[in-house]
Amino acid sequence: MGRIGLEHPFCPRCFASIGQAAACPSCALPFDRSGALLDVLGSRARERRAEEVERFYTKSPFPGYAPGDDGASLLDRSRRAPFLVALDAAIAPDARVLDLGCGTAQVPAFLALAASHRTVVGIDGCRESLAHAEEFRARAVVDNLQLVRADLFDLPVEPRSFQVVISRGVVHHTPDPDDAIAKVAECVAPGGVLVLGWYETAGRLFHCARRALGRLRGQPIRALDPLLRRRDMDDEKKRIWIEDQYLHPLEHILPLPHVLPLLDSLGLHWIRSIPPATRGEGLFDPTPRPSAMGIRRLQLAWALRGLNDPDAGLVCVVARRA
Ligand SMILES: C[S@@+](CC[C@H](N)C(=O)[O-])C[C@H]1O[C@@H](n2cnc3c(N)ncnc32)[C@H](O)[C@@H]1O
Ligand SMILES: [Zn+2]
Repeated sequence: MGRIGLEHPFCPRCFASIGQAAACPSCALPFDRSGALLDVLGSRARERRAEEVERFYTKSPFPGYAPGDDGASLLDRSRRAPFLVALDAAIAPDARVLDLGCGTAQVPAFLALAASHRTVVGIDGCRESLAHAEEFRARAVVDNLQLVRADLFDLPVEPRSFQVVISRGVVHHTPDPDDAIAKVAECVAPGGVLVLGWYETAGRLFHCARRALGRLRGQPIRALDPLLRRRDMDDEKKRIWIEDQYLHPLEHILPLPHVLPLLDSLGLHWIRSIPPATRGEGLFDPTPRPSAMGIRRLQLAWALRGLNDPDAGLVCVVARRA
């Protein structure tokens, strides 16, 4: 599936090189552009809550880059994150990878930098987050990563055209998470893998209680939050964390017993969840699908983890299309 002949910028739908054109010369996909960043939404009005979510991330693009970040520092930081190391190791070096709701695109930039023959597309609805992403991409010269502004519910990609589709921390911030999961799933090629991360009901339990207490008190209770307690984290990162975790305008929680059958109905079958972390095995190696009791056990472990969870209840499920 390599990137033979791929030249940046390239079309997310047919992968043809675009040059300076304002529509794909091969499939005619139209877009506005800001340099190499393609914008298929342009100034079109969006659904009211989607606009509200975009305004939110315009104030606080997520995740933030460290001052002076470059390709080497992003690679170094990502290679210290066990999940990202396992993700990179599991994805073929010539795979087509799609990150939906990529925000400032740190994950797709890492996956593109780590294997120059991957074809990586990052899509997000927030112009400002993507401006940060594109600024980094151009500075670090990541030519196998194409950034695109589009809405998750109207994606400018061919169905079933990516071997790996990642969407972490996104579907629960949309008006219709079930439909969002269906849209994400639709992009996964036969034999391909989905990595879906969302706020799981049991995993998020402790955070919901902590946030409710914070609301009563008029501000987050720092002693109860593992990130706000950290001394090695700068104030700007903490501000963004507070916005994202305590002040988000649109957030759902979804229980695993709801998401698993939904994925099954979309033709995506269980590989594993994260947590628990991988222990030597590959992230995409199959593990037995949990029984009803196994699901309860996982949820209990996530609920207990909530006390000190740096992801505040964000759980990932990895699933494969037959
Ligand atoms: C919490 S951030 C997650 C960023 C990134 N996936 C990560 O894990 O660091 C959620 C992202 O989803 C994007 N998003 C939310 N609703 C969207 C939609 N309907 N279409 C496209 N992107 C959307 C937001 O703009 C935001 O950048
Ligand atoms: Zn095209």
